[in-house]
Amino acid sequence: MKTYGYFDDANREYVITDPRTPVKWINYVGTLNFGGFIDHTGGALICAQDPALNRISRYVAQLPSSEFKGTTLYLRTREGERYRVFSPYFVPTLDPYDRYECHVGLGYTRVVSEFYGIRTDSTFFVPLGGQQLIQDIKITNLGESPLVLDAIPVVEYTHPDALKQFTNADWVPQTMQSRAHREPDGKVVLVQFPFMLRDSRVNYLTSNLVVRCFESDRAHFLGDHEYGAWAAPLSLQEDELSCYEALRGDNIGALLHHLGRLKPGQTVRLITQLGQAASLRAALPAIRRYREPAEVNRAFAELHAFWDRYLAAYQAETPDAAMNTMVNIHNAHQCYITLTWSRYLSLYQLGYGARGIGFRDSSQDVMGAVASAPGEARDLLRKLLGVQKRSGAAMHQFNPLTMAAEVGDAAERPEAPQYYSDDHLWSILAVTAYLKETGDFAFLDEVIPYFEKGRDGQPVESGTVLDHLRRAIAFTHADLGVHGLPLLGFADWNDTINLRKGAESLFTANLYGRALQEMIALAEQRGDRGLARQYRTQHGEMKLRVNECAWDGEWYVSYFDADGQPLGSRKNQAGQIHVNGQSWPILSGFAPNDRAEAALSAVRSRLNTSKGIKLSAPGYNGFDPLKGGITTYPPGAKENGGIFLHTNLWVIIAETLAGHGDRAFEYYSQINPASKNDTIDEYECEPYVYAQNILGDEHPQFGLARNSWLSGTASWSYQAATQYILGIRPTYRGLQIDPCIPHTWPGFRVVRRFRGAVYHIVVSNPDGVCKGIKRCVVDGEERTDNLLPIFEDGSEHTVEVVMG
Ligand code: GLC
Repeated sequence: MKTYGYFDDANREYVITDPRTPVKWINYVGTLNFGGFIDHTGGALICAQDPALNRISRYVAQLPSSEFKGTTLYLRTREGERYRVFSPYFVPTLDPYDRYECHVGLGYTRVVSEFYGIRTDSTFFVPLGGQQLIQDIKITNLGESPLVLDAIPVVEYTHPDALKQFTNADWVPQTMQSRAHREPDGKVVLVQFPFMLRDSRVNYLTSNLVVRCFESDRAHFLGDHEYGAWAAPLSLQEDELSCYEALRGDNIGALLHHLGRLKPGQTVRLITQLGQAASLRAALPAIRRYREPAEVNRAFAELHAFWDRYLAAYQAETPDAAMNTMVNIHNAHQCYITLTWSRYLSLYQLGYGARGIGFRDSSQDVMGAVASAPGEARDLLRKLLGVQKRSGAAMHQFNPLTMAAEVGDAAERPEAPQYYSDDHLWSILAVTAYLKETGDFAFLDEVIPYFEKGRDGQPVESGTVLDHLRRAIAFTHADLGVHGLPLLGFADWNDTINLRKGAESLFTANLYGRALQEMIALAEQRGDRGLARQYRTQHGEMKLRVNECAWDGEWYVSYFDADGQPLGSRKNQAGQIHVNGQSWPILSGFAPNDRAEAALSAVRSRLNTSKGIKLSAPGYNGFDPLKGGITTYPPGAKENGGIFLHTNLWVIIAETLAGHGDRAFEYYSQINPASKNDTIDEYECEPYVYAQNILGDEHPQFGLARNSWLSGTASWSYQAATQYILGIRPTYRGLQIDPCIPHTWPGFRVVRRFRGAVYHIVVSNPDGVCKGIKRCVVDGEERTDNLLPIFEDGSEHTVEVVMG
């Protein structure tokens, strides 16, 4: 069993100990405002506000893992006539190391390595609200004799228009320039910009130590017309760099520091900053600040405190270590990352603008982060509702810098419907999750414009948040096909089932049902009985239709095509059963008990594997333009019968609603990345975050994961674990306690912060049941129900719950 690292829960880190991981494993720093990701060998992709239009470092994800990507650090010592040049981050020089650790932390990555008797301990992070990536580098001479050492941090810049960098190799290099700003004390700020931004927005690289010389041109740095390589730059065999200020070309920033003679045991601290500002002048105060080690310490401590607060919303102690690791640390972290980056920027979602902030995706992300980051969740909700159309349907995605919104992949097929039938309905789930968590009902009255703009660029209509939600319901209520089910539009949650106009979606029918349930609860909370009644009627109508026309005998079908033929039926050759078709009728409240049980059994017998539940089966074997994107994949991959992890959580939630705690937890564990640490060579992606997909058992590489980090899996696994398995659910009237756990668990504990109070909850399970509560005691007083009251006053409470 090969492992590449281990979980260090006490320090809230995963520690990679072998840099030769199957694929790069990454971590995020900063936010969309300024930040990006750092891979575990020190490469960094950094951008500000938008990876498509304001990208800073050039990180080409598709290059081999051994290649330089975006940033690195070189160290060098003299060895006779030559310099020994190596990177303490392993890449790109690939020298043999004595020790290599990459600590994947919350908001930071720390690389600790030992090469040739030199220890380097570097922490990469972006201060809260900061506009600079800090590398706090401590270099120690571990040897017995003094060592003369140079340190050369390097960044390779991209044109801010990230795609142009690759589509125009004349315009881009003609515009890219660098200038050095030397300070009286010998420090240097190396400034970089495309010509048109010279007076409005510049990037810079600087440090806290004296810089003798620098380089800003890649060709000069690598040498020999770039027949010198990143693994052994020829300029680093010279005593000094050329101090060339690039007038064009491929711009880099490289600062050479002569660290001098380090005594045995001596450490030097080099702090670099890669930042962006309106001008050098505007950048100087922050530059000076972060040259002070004490300020860097303080910024790092603030980051730590942010994560203390973030995680404090929910801490669990269960009998399952892998669950604890994820719920308490890494899954919570991933939820914040998806909230920030949507599906925009990762090793797989390359951020060139093909996708922006997704309406459906971000709505779901809000649900996973709302307990810990309610303010950010609300800000994102405002933006999302701002791209909802007057009809109630939504634009599929938007660019966060320009707020330009688009219809997504539908644009590639103008003859197809130009909306996704599910998008707008997700905002109902997200807004109500926010309201239940916070009690901030004033948000419902906030006025937000609809997307459409007049000739003057101003919105033509606005409505309250509640109007937006009601229009979302109204759109689907009226957008029906021949069976009275919602039309599919370009697609539903499954982007890749793109049927001819007129097709109907059971997924959207069920999501509409779930959204109606949320709207009914909200209307009741507001005392609006008329509205509650109206929505109850609508729910009942759709429930009837779904059960009349979509039951296939042993499970529900998932679509009707434009000719009224079912997909997801045993009549079909491929795609006989789709998982969402089974879990969602339970989530919507449409499935009667017997059908719910049958549908869940069908999932188990036809779709479950030892590594997760497949999205559908059997896979389509051949491209069929009439079915759409799903048939572009070989059987077993992605939406075509792959294990699409996101949907596994809906089954888990459905299982808990049906009271099946053993099954729910079995399904939860079989996809928990933290329990794959020992078989990671098969899985390949990071063991500390969820991936989007795993190849299914129809594929020869069954078990291989891809598209880690930015997936709805983050939010739904967090919701499934915290609200449905552990069963601590926010409602308008308090915290509901309704666990559904393996019968073998003796109990568990949770500390939950909710509406300003802290609940210390101890659940015991003396009778070995999966579900059911026989006693609930709050602060020593027995309650008649399992709803914990709202305290809202910063107070702490003890809660004892006995299952049975
Ligand atoms: C990707 C998309 C998501 C979609 C899913 C299924 O995860 O980000 O929006 O629902 O694929 O097609």
